[in-house]
Amino acid sequence: MCGIVGFIGHKHDAKDVVLNGLTKLEYRGYDSAGISLFNPKFRSFDIYKDFGRVAKLKELTKDAMISNVGIGHTRWATHGKVTKENAHPHYSQSKRFIIVHNGVIENHEELKAQYLANALFYSETDTEVIAQLIESFSETLSVENAILTTLKLLEGSYALLVIDTESPNTIFAAKNKSPLVLGQSEDGVTIASDLMALVGYSEKYIALADHTFVRCEADNVTMYNLNHEILPTSFLDIDLDEADADMGEYQHYMLKEIYEQPSVVRRIVQNYFEDGDIKISKQVLKDIKNSDRIYILAAGTSMHAGYVGKYILEELVEIPVEVHIASEFAYHTPLLTEKPFFLMISQSGETADLRACLMKTKKMNYKTLTVTNVKTSTLARESNYFLELFAGPEIAVASTKAYVAQIGVLAVLAYALSEQSFDLKKALTDVALSIEDFLSSQDVSSIVHKIITKRNCFYIGRTIDYYTALEAALKLKEISYIQTEGFAAGELKHGTIALIEEGTPVVALISNKEISSNTRSNLNEVIARGASTIKISMKKTSHKDDDIILKDVHPLLTPMVMVVPTQLFAYYAALERGLDIDKPRNLAKSVTVE
Ligand code: G6P
Repeated sequence: MCGIVGFIGHKHDAKDVVLNGLTKLEYRGYDSAGISLFNPKFRSFDIYKDFGRVAKLKELTKDAMISNVGIGHTRWATHGKVTKENAHPHYSQSKRFIIVHNGVIENHEELKAQYLANALFYSETDTEVIAQLIESFSETLSVENAILTTLKLLEGSYALLVIDTESPNTIFAAKNKSPLVLGQSEDGVTIASDLMALVGYSEKYIALADHTFVRCEADNVTMYNLNHEILPTSFLDIDLDEADADMGEYQHYMLKEIYEQPSVVRRIVQNYFEDGDIKISKQVLKDIKNSDRIYILAAGTSMHAGYVGKYILEELVEIPVEVHIASEFAYHTPLLTEKPFFLMISQSGETADLRACLMKTKKMNYKTLTVTNVKTSTLARESNYFLELFAGPEIAVASTKAYVAQIGVLAVLAYALSEQSFDLKKALTDVALSIEDFLSSQDVSSIVHKIITKRNCFYIGRTIDYYTALEAALKLKEISYIQTEGFAAGELKHGTIALIEEGTPVVALISNKEISSNTRSNLNEVIARGASTIKISMKKTSHKDDDIILKDVHPLLTPMVMVVPTQLFAYYAALERGLDIDKPRNLAKSVTVE
């Protein structure tokens, strides 16, 4: 959460680079936005900031002078309310040092008490402590040593950009836990929380390791460890395309991403299948086969993909699988079996709750595989193995194509671990076709009215459909703010049925043939109590009056298809309510705080 961007260069205007970057990073938080730009006329730095979006910041800075140095921030509030004062950049007492920060300084209270008892604070943030410490140490130390001394005192996470207003031709950067990538080109240096902000300004990048301190000048980058020893730098080519992050003809990123799902599934096929072989390292397969239990750790939508993954893995590989909420597992680890294997699922690869789990499993010397969409992410780099989702950038906060890709990649993994006679490549191609068929032939906007007029809504399903019900409910609640729950259909009658009243919407997901008549019975129970129902089924489980009937796919892959109508329900419900679909209130896409 929170995105930072800095630029120091020659050709581009820092304001453009930073604001364009912040726009692409808004998925990381959008409570407030701010920027500091060098003002060549007065040879000082101006700060523009306020609560609200980057669009507002663009207005605020429209008359700013062309500048070659700037740092900016888009915030997801953790310490201190959403106010102008708490928006970044923050500055030290004399305003000599200006900083932007992504992360949480866990010991900020202690540091304040120990080192800054007499300092004047301008905000309620933990971040300001960093600026104040740097200033206080700079009274006796060089600026670089003042920053390094400060960094060594910080507990928690930081991706940090620092400007010393007395040396306007340098940006200092530092990283621990929160992501930071640095791009370089002939035009200068761009440094940001995510590669996407570098696209268009840099051809090469380096993903900084933890405990790195960097001095950036327009033509020169020097990296150090916290002992001020120079580190080697090795840059990689940026292989992202600006068009990947473009909304194209769609009104919202979420809709674009829903429609991209067939091509995402095909991309998984292209990337994982080669000449009858599956491209997954033999070593990871061996490690999993040698384990006696797979522990899937994840959060939010990724956890729902984890449930489906459990179902597929247990079915195909016959290794027991447990799914755990990352934030719980990190601090209340269950009794583990003798030979556990850990599988982390994360769209962003940055979720702090998962990183806490990774630290724990590493300490216990267990092997970990991360399934993620971002190959440069912290979890991808720090796990023993990683598998890429190939979903392309997902910008809407509510995850859609990454979820479908997660199930697809987990199915490939399960398949590679097993000796199956069915053709998964074909089965995934059928999934792409089935989604495509639905998206091109059915209009759900009229069905959505049944959902949005009501106070609350329920999704029900059994076995594999239950997991889809959980994901469908999360999607609807997070973007339409309709209180929604996903239920195991058989469980509804044990309490929650008390909430069903005249007109309460209940959506049934019916893809499992063996149990479909039971789900239909549960549906009748709620109809008898006045519920207004919507039925989504596969062709082979359908009744002719079902609302949405999807083309059949392999039974283990039905969640990849069944979820799609529910994504559109959420989308149209939010649209109908006039809500900010791509940036729902209070949320962020990459949750880098615990
Ligand atoms: C946030 C997002 C969710 C996401 C969850 C886990 O809460 O809003 O959409 O599912 O984080 O994120 P991850 O990147 O680990 O999949």
